[in-house]
Amino acid sequence: MSQKYGKGIVIVGVQYGDEGKGKIVDHYASKSYIDVVTRFNGGANAGHTIVTNKEKYALNLLPSGMVYGKPSYIGNGCVVDLERVKEELTQFPTKHHLLHISERAQLVLPHHKILDQYQEKMKQKRTLEVGTTKRGIGPAYHDKSSRFGIRFGDLWDEELLKQQVDLLSEYYQGFPLEVVNAVQPSHLMGLFSKWKASFKRMLCDTGVILSKKLSQGKNVLFEGAQSTLLDLDHGVYPFNTSSNCVVASASTGTGIAPHNLTERIGVVKAYTSRVGGGPIISEISDIPEGETLQKEGGEFGTSTGRPRRISWLDLVAVKYATRLNGLTGIALTKIDILGHLKEFEVVVEYEGYEIDPDFPSYPMRISDIKRIIPVTEILPSWGILSSESWRELKLKGWDSFPSELKSFIKMIEDYIGIPILLVGTGPSRSELIERNDLESSISVPSP
Ligand code: IMP
Repeated sequence: MSQKYGKGIVIVGVQYGDEGKGKIVDHYASKSYIDVVTRFNGGANAGHTIVTNKEKYALNLLPSGMVYGKPSYIGNGCVVDLERVKEELTQFPTKHHLLHISERAQLVLPHHKILDQYQEKMKQKRTLEVGTTKRGIGPAYHDKSSRFGIRFGDLWDEELLKQQVDLLSEYYQGFPLEVVNAVQPSHLMGLFSKWKASFKRMLCDTGVILSKKLSQGKNVLFEGAQSTLLDLDHGVYPFNTSSNCVVASASTGTGIAPHNLTERIGVVKAYTSRVGGGPIISEISDIPEGETLQKEGGEFGTSTGRPRRISWLDLVAVKYATRLNGLTGIALTKIDILGHLKEFEVVVEYEGYEIDPDFPSYPMRISDIKRIIPVTEILPSWGILSSESWRELKLKGWDSFPSELKSFIKMIEDYIGIPILLVGTGPSRSELIERNDLESSISVPSP
């Protein structure tokens, strides 16, 4: 009997976050062919604002399926701050029943947030500051891999819970008083009994549920957080986040088999930005072009207001991310911002660092990244177009778009070997050009 499986559509960032992933996820989450939305990595360090016709939503941890009334899952690969879940749920007073959290997901506890700040202070002295979101992400994953973390489902395993809490409080004895106080067993157990009462209904096994839905022909959107170059293993270590953010982690981070991840879309900004520390290739923050992109693109951190550092689009890195994630398509964002320059550059080669052009890597050593001299191509831009002009062009169709823009898109596609499916021309949801319709491939059954 041939069975028609649903599609697993994964959205991941390609650069250092802030590529505009939120908008691309919204685009797909709102489609009628998406039945379920799930997060698979990170925690409340992600963030996007969704503006619908009626409301504005700010999400850090909840999957964007909540906005569109779709069953929404937080996978086991995430670290979950239940207090923040409660806060974010106030935006959805009638939709709490849509949210489900993996029983295997690790909990973010109060001491994780204190430790996040403490670690950053120590790193600052050595110019190793990561510029974290201070949401306790690294320390929560630390407790997870040290095997004294508390999983959501452990709240209902009294014996193990008591032993783990005891271990935690002994382990952190030598730490600053604030940390010691935060891991007091009585304090933690009090928190846990409160959470047990509020969140029991959300307990689930994401692996079983999502596999079942896929086997019933339902399409699942896997909403990535952070980005490929921030990935714990494959990004710029130690200036990265503490989870795996690549496509493969949508499988390990929810418990579904990898072959279910049939559509793999990488989000690429038309230039590069980065918050926090760490080297970036081809940084241009200190020249007028960089300042223009920073100002016009609103490249300032959402929580701290810190200016994001800017560099040119790095196609070597994009090709690396394409290989690593097995990307099937690209969503290219913020091309309207690039139009504010007369001409711009694109990195096509690294001088001083050998890379196999067919199987590109990204330098693992910070000293190599700092040493690289980027080889760039200079391209003419398409100029500043009003929202109205972009709308008109969209109505007329892709052939009517400026030739400079079409050449830029073709150059990227030729370089990385996969199609650009979506092009972002402005901040709002409608300012997106769909070049290839994913929907047409959705009805094709998986092998
Ligand atoms: P953490 O994930 O809070 O530990 O922060 C680690 C690094 O990842 C820092 O440089 C953060 O600025 C960056 N980061 C984490 N989440 C995001 C995101 O959603 N967008 C952009 N950068 C992020």
